[in-house]
Amino acid sequence: MATQTLSEVRASQPGDHGYRSFSLGEFAFSRDEYFVYVKWPTGTHVMSADTFLKALQRDVAWNFFYGIVNFDAVIGTVNHYGTVDLFAGRYNDAYRKAELDHVENYATPQIRATFEAILADWTNDGFDPFASPAETGNAFGAKNGSNTPAITRRRVVAKRMVGVPGDEVPRSDATGHPVNRHFLDVPQDEPEIHAEPGFEGEVCAFNLFSYLSRSDVTWNPSVVSVCKDSLFCPTTEEYILPVIHGNDRVEWFVQLSDEIFWSVEDRDSGAVRAKVVMKAGDVAAMPADIRHQGYSPKRSMLLVWENADGELPVLLAAGKLPNNPVDF
Ligand code: PHB
Ligand code: FE
Repeated sequence: MATQTLSEVRASQPGDHGYRSFSLGEFAFSRDEYFVYVKWPTGTHVMSADTFLKALQRDVAWNFFYGIVNFDAVIGTVNHYGTVDLFAGRYNDAYRKAELDHVENYATPQIRATFEAILADWTNDGFDPFASPAETGNAFGAKNGSNTPAITRRRVVAKRMVGVPGDEVPRSDATGHPVNRHFLDVPQDEPEIHAEPGFEGEVCAFNLFSYLSRSDVTWNPSVVSVCKDSLFCPTTEEYILPVIHGNDRVEWFVQLSDEIFWSVEDRDSGAVRAKVVMKAGDVAAMPADIRHQGYSPKRSMLLVWENADGELPVLLAAGKLPNNPVDF
């Protein structure tokens, strides 16, 4: 498996339905009105265009995230933090046993450029891959314009904390973030700060519930506070997490409001391991050797707590750290 270093994007002229086809290494991608087709030397795969674009949007916006981003049970990426694997059937027991799985490795900028080009060409006017199904137009039909503002949204990544001078700013009507229809009951008052004399410039606070109630996207953790490698990445969720995330480290979830159902599978084979129901106030530690997908019946608030220590994947793979952070 050679690492490819070419940086150009290979695209065809627009085809029957107005969409371009793309290739990357030996993978080929095309779409029509409803579906996306992925081909590789030992197989082909079809996905609904909306599911594919929602997964692709997150893979691009999160710069391939932590570990594995499965678009579904067959297609996905593995982040090696500098290079990225694109795979078909690699984390699917049946494909593995039939020896039909396929993996290619690329320098991150190369796969990024191709994924960004596919996302831009295949996202029609009115479709927002980050929005809930109730808050976007549909992904289908012949090519119809584009939605550049939606697919190039700036990701919120606080350097220290939202609200600290010079850092990410709290959301408000004035910043273009109205309260979401499902969070109209969320109090919007900001905390009062009573600092000791001499410390007035060193104390900050913001209303996280208000901040989240004003999110216009779903299933998109943003970094709101940072303490060394400890990142608080809350997000608002509605409908289905568009990727099945395969962990390369432990993740903690704190359910801040409402309810999410999690389907938890073995990371490598896809065998079912657990069904988890998280209600407001519940805390879960997702093990480092699983993959998971969440279902949120109404918009809910979830705190994803990440440990960004770059050594973790190596230590876990070498068996030097436990996959479960706590034993009961
Ligand atoms: C996760 O894979 O842990 C994850 C991703 C996106 C979310 C929530 C959780 O919005
Ligand atoms: Fe995850």
